[in-house]
Amino acid sequence: MKATVLAHADYSIAEIDPRLYGSFIEHLGRAVYTGIYEPEHPTADENGMRRDVIDLVREIDVPIVRYPGGNFVSAYNWEDGIGPKDQRPVRLDLAWHTSESNEVGLHEFSDWCSSVGTEMMLAVNLGSRGLDEARNFLEYANHPGGSYWSDLRIGNGRAEPFNVKLWCLGNEMDGPWQIGHKSADEYGRLAHETAKAMRSFDSSLELIVCGSSNAKMPTYPQWEATVLDHTYNEVDYISLHMYFDNKAGDTPNYLAQNKKLDDYIVSVSGVIDFIKAKKRSSKDVYISFDEWNVWYHSKEQDEKILKGNDGWPFAPPLLEDIYNFEDVLQVGLILNTFIRRSNVVRIACLAQLVNVIAPIMTAPGGEAWRQTIFYPYMFASRYGRGTALDLRVKSPTYEVADIGEVDSLDVAAVHDAEGGFLSFFVVNRSQTAIETAFDLQGFAAAPSIADYQVMTHADLKAVNSLEQMMEVAPRAGDGLVIDGASLAGTFPPMSYQMIRIK
Ligand code: AHR
Repeated sequence: MKATVLAHADYSIAEIDPRLYGSFIEHLGRAVYTGIYEPEHPTADENGMRRDVIDLVREIDVPIVRYPGGNFVSAYNWEDGIGPKDQRPVRLDLAWHTSESNEVGLHEFSDWCSSVGTEMMLAVNLGSRGLDEARNFLEYANHPGGSYWSDLRIGNGRAEPFNVKLWCLGNEMDGPWQIGHKSADEYGRLAHETAKAMRSFDSSLELIVCGSSNAKMPTYPQWEATVLDHTYNEVDYISLHMYFDNKAGDTPNYLAQNKKLDDYIVSVSGVIDFIKAKKRSSKDVYISFDEWNVWYHSKEQDEKILKGNDGWPFAPPLLEDIYNFEDVLQVGLILNTFIRRSNVVRIACLAQLVNVIAPIMTAPGGEAWRQTIFYPYMFASRYGRGTALDLRVKSPTYEVADIGEVDSLDVAAVHDAEGGFLSFFVVNRSQTAIETAFDLQGFAAAPSIADYQVMTHADLKAVNSLEQMMEVAPRAGDGLVIDGASLAGTFPPMSYQMIRIK
């Protein structure tokens, strides 16, 4: 099979916001405890944070991390996580049916973010709580001093404000599973008033209002229209979530699902435009796709804990999906979709980062390793910064039920004009090799291949584990030929590749 790709330096989609490669840490399962935090671990730093995990997160160069939830945030008292650790209360977490020791809270998480070189993106609880707690949390976090909450922070050992710019107004408030679930009107009013109060403190904050938990919700897309009707002038982003699965064991269909993601983004973008026009507004609202990933491998094993049959365990293994090679392709496809829609999707968070549906796994007291999906995420985060290009791709296609026709070769490209790099992210989701000719227009006169990484595996279900950490890993590719404006290569069946040209 053959494909062609035309890339022109002047045909662009948008400047990518680096926060497109964000992630998420929730107080859930072992994400925090024995994930990022394990004071007894041999690699623990002075704050009890695992250095081995910090090093792996740094490898990905994660620009922003959403915290502390997720479903967890909808019954969370942020005050439980501040002050002397030995006086913090143990609480029952209703979202995940576990116990929360509160050993890690805002201060500890912020220190961890500094260690990994990332920014914090905080969520306020609009489930069991409301405007008052949100404004107090904001004052505690961001006010320099001289007020009740800011002085409390200083008393707790943090003189400088945390200066958190990006705030989520609750989480998945459309979901009946959410503690404090609301109708679109109830939530829209609350989010509007909360946003107004937060903006009275600091008009430069960036605020994210909850959109749908997924495109199958019965309230979608009316939810977006109603919520934005209430909040449009006070918010900057609407949040979307989507998880992918191959429960049906139908790989061609699974690997075509990013078409549904694309449709979801385009439809919500249409709703945003509709409300913008309705409000006669000149301001734009963008999408924060702040939860996405493959999530299904662990669902069955989690049932017992989630149903409460184990009581209220502390940091049990939950949502510990073990990713396979097929999921590498899926994550590559999702990231390509975000790059191609980076004009409307400004922020996206891989859910999550450590142990819980995560690219990084840890053994308590033992080693940490990279799951298969670590790699496409790392390549996109490291090399997908710059200008997203509007490519012209001619590829063979295939058709699946419910989704329709998709290109067998899925390609996204990012031009880093400053560094002089052009990066391609290519997924061949077919069973046949695809011979591909690239036409590169408007770039360096005599470019060369700076890096070419390929991921393939004979077994789509191959995984990495504590015993076999490198079973699925990238290797240096060969056979790519570049000659002036022509780049040519053959991409193996079921493969992911990252190509960098300079
Ligand atoms: O990421 C896991 C969970 O998925 C989050 O807590 C929730 O927001 C979503 O339903």
